[in-house]
Amino acid sequence: MASIQMKNIVKKYGDGFPAVNDVSIDIADGEFVILVGPSGCGKSTLLRMIVGLEDITSGDMVIGEKRVNDLAPRDRNLAMVFQNYALYPHLSVYENIAFPLRLAGAKDEEVDAKVREASKTLELDEHLERKPANLSGGQRQRVAMGRAIVRDADAFLFDEPLSNLDAKLRGQMRSEIARLQKKLGITTVYVTHDQTEAMTLGDRVAVLKRGLLQQLASPRELYGNPCNLFVAGFIGSPPMNFLPAEVDGTTVTLPFGSVQISAEKAERVAGKGLLIAGIRPEAFEDASVVDSGREGSTFRATVEVVEWLGNEAYAYIPFEAPPEVQQQLQQLERDLDGESLRTQLVVGLDGSSRIAEGDEAEIWVDTSKMHLFDPSTGENLTIDHDHAGEVPVRALEPTPG
Ligand SMILES: Nc1ncnc2c1ncn2[C@@H]1O[C@H](COP(=O)(O)OP(=O)(O)OP(=O)(O)O)[C@@H](O)[C@H]1O
Ligand SMILES: [Mg+2]
Repeated sequence: MASIQMKNIVKKYGDGFPAVNDVSIDIADGEFVILVGPSGCGKSTLLRMIVGLEDITSGDMVIGEKRVNDLAPRDRNLAMVFQNYALYPHLSVYENIAFPLRLAGAKDEEVDAKVREASKTLELDEHLERKPANLSGGQRQRVAMGRAIVRDADAFLFDEPLSNLDAKLRGQMRSEIARLQKKLGITTVYVTHDQTEAMTLGDRVAVLKRGLLQQLASPRELYGNPCNLFVAGFIGSPPMNFLPAEVDGTTVTLPFGSVQISAEKAERVAGKGLLIAGIRPEAFEDASVVDSGREGSTFRATVEVVEWLGNEAYAYIPFEAPPEVQQQLQQLERDLDGESLRTQLVVGLDGSSRIAEGDEAEIWVDTSKMHLFDPSTGENLTIDHDHAGEVPVRALEPTPG
């Protein structure tokens, strides 16, 4: 096992466009790191540079203590687990797992010992004589991992291994991979554009946008302290609400009325003019079901649609936004790959709420959970840097376009 250090990694393809642009990520031995971001942001390119399937334009790739930029893939001792698992259909599970050892000319006793050990860990003992075609998707995935385990690889690399599976199986496989990674303690890098996988699997998550690392942090940190509009909009479902916000002292005027923020937050946004407020759906509640002692602000608004899900409900409240804010939100929508951000507020309500469509309802909001973003750069001005992981300076530069 080994640590993986990426230092200022750049990848330019033939046309000179930096598909990966100055990315630095330190992955500890045994750590599980997710690379996430919309299509084309450079996730696969970065992963392929770790394995050695793609040349590195500049920067250093260090695995363990060794710089591997010029090493061939087979000399890096990493195991890539592909989406289609690439199992040999005519070989038994046993021989599929044994394959890399046979290739290396290992003795039969060594092969047998290693295959049996891997099969025990992966709970494949009763399937060893079967052919891959007779296995479930989950079992096949384990066979593919078995092949990686017997090689004693320094790290596992996954590129969207679950994207072909249906939602239910994907959920099962997700917990399977998490369980095995914990058990084996193998350094793992996992590419996905699914934010649920990103949130549930990784020790830390690297969010990429057009080749640039935006933020590298634990799922909790990303969720609670996104560094900019992009990360805030990408992480969380339903997504964070973005609203025009006018700040005057500790008073923030939103489309629905005014709320109060702390003096400390007010100081950080003083004199900034028009901002974008970010509030997650669950920071809201039906005012009539909130304990009167709880701190927060309330406002009245007309609810257009209510989706009741039993334990919770979502109310939709349309609002108007000025052109500056509209423009930034439309750009964000494009950056997020078409994830539609309508100018409507999505308010999470308790399942017991009686708010119905067409009501003018009283809504409560926990303003301590509100972020304020600079509309020109997208930067989160109210970020708590102690709980935000790593934010490269470049992530906060204004993006062209
Ligand atoms: N062989 C190549 N030649 C030229 N450009 C490439 C090549 N491979 C990838 N790119 C470009 O590099 C950028 C990053 O591609 P990459 O495949 O790493 O994205 P990704 O984040 O894995 O996306 P997806 O989620 O769609 O798999 C894209 O703009 C892509 O068009
Ligand atoms: Mg990809």
